[in-house]
Amino acid sequence: MKILLVEDSRTSVLLVQMLLQDDPLETYELHVAGTLADAKTRLGNEKFDLILLDLTLPDTSGLATVDSVFSIADGTGIVVLTAQNDEELGLAALRHGAQDFLVKDETYRRVLLRAIKYARQRSLAEKEIREARDLAEFATRSKSSFIANLSHELRTPLNAVIGFSEMMLSGMTGKMTDKQHEYTNDIFKSGRYLLGLIGTVLDISKIEANKLELHNGIVDMREIIADVTERLQGAYHNGIVELVVDVAPGLPKLYGDETMLTQVVTNLVGNALKYSPDGGEVRVSAVVENGDMIFTVKDHGIGIPKDEIDMVLQPFGRTQESRVRNIDGTGLGLPLTKGLVEAHGGTLKLVSDTGKGTTVIVRLPDDRLRN
Ligand SMILES: Nc1ncnc2c1ncn2[C@@H]1O[C@H](COP(=O)(O)OP(=O)(O)OP(=O)(O)O)[C@@H](O)[C@H]1O
Ligand SMILES: [Mg+2]
Repeated sequence: MKILLVEDSRTSVLLVQMLLQDDPLETYELHVAGTLADAKTRLGNEKFDLILLDLTLPDTSGLATVDSVFSIADGTGIVVLTAQNDEELGLAALRHGAQDFLVKDETYRRVLLRAIKYARQRSLAEKEIREARDLAEFATRSKSSFIANLSHELRTPLNAVIGFSEMMLSGMTGKMTDKQHEYTNDIFKSGRYLLGLIGTVLDISKIEANKLELHNGIVDMREIIADVTERLQGAYHNGIVELVVDVAPGLPKLYGDETMLTQVVTNLVGNALKYSPDGGEVRVSAVVENGDMIFTVKDHGIGIPKDEIDMVLQPFGRTQESRVRNIDGTGLGLPLTKGLVEAHGGTLKLVSDTGKGTTVIVRLPDDRLRN
């Protein structure tokens, strides 16, 4: 194992050398750097399996030493050596990226070899995790840019489909028979549906790639809730579901993206109405609790089986029940809504079970509230 010992005291170097020679199970190649500058040159030129780092050197001291070495160590594990009575500094070094620390006292001799081996194992494991994460992030980025390009290419012809069918419907291109009018209307509506779907897919892929940009402003949730509930009141079951709105008096405003928050309310109230039976009741409320804003939508509809809750939060996830009943839906509303809430630093929780109705609880954090 190739070790870089960053240490300026001659005695300490000799001691480490002696201890390493004692190990019957492993041979070590020990390289010594006496200053931070020296260590930087060495690390820039060759790879080591582990770094043993004394924090007090002629050209640096304390946590700054850890920071400097960590920034160029490129994933190589660091074991910090601290003077006696300096546990606290050792613990702080761990928070600054060191794998372990050793206090130079009487126990030092016994634990050095073990610490070296553990630190090496840990840094190898961490390296694997880092590589796997980098790969996953790369895959997400590629997928997201593919979807962004595809959406753009789909939108252009789709706008022609929508624009021309709309023109024909308006009568500008001459009179149509009733059948022609009906079919053209279908073309127009399907085109608009597809355009919306493309927008949703694009938004979800932006959320996954962490590329969603919020256009923040002061937003009045009371107004959004009033607008959305009025708009959706008659949209499902011919309006036979009762919508009860319960917004706390003096509800503070929010600092957030109005379009996104409107979408959150629209999707959740829309779901509640869509999955309710005729004559059911949907309750929409907004209150402040422990400093956070809690927005809740509760229905008494078909519910979501407990073991399907995770699935419906994934893109295209739909319950068996909603498929069997042939209820219209794509399965994109919830994952998008959850992503939009999280982009605001909030959380979305689903409480539901088969036949028991569904409650969706959105919590927006106190730092977003404005009085
Ligand atoms: N309030 C609810 N009650 C019962 N089931 C629900 C409710 N909300 C969501 N679900 C279930 O979760 C699934 C996912 O919801 P989501 O809003 O993502 O998609 P959708 O409503 O099917 O389609 P859309 O993309 O148009 O919103 C639904 O298909 C339905 O099975
Ligand atoms: Mg939905």
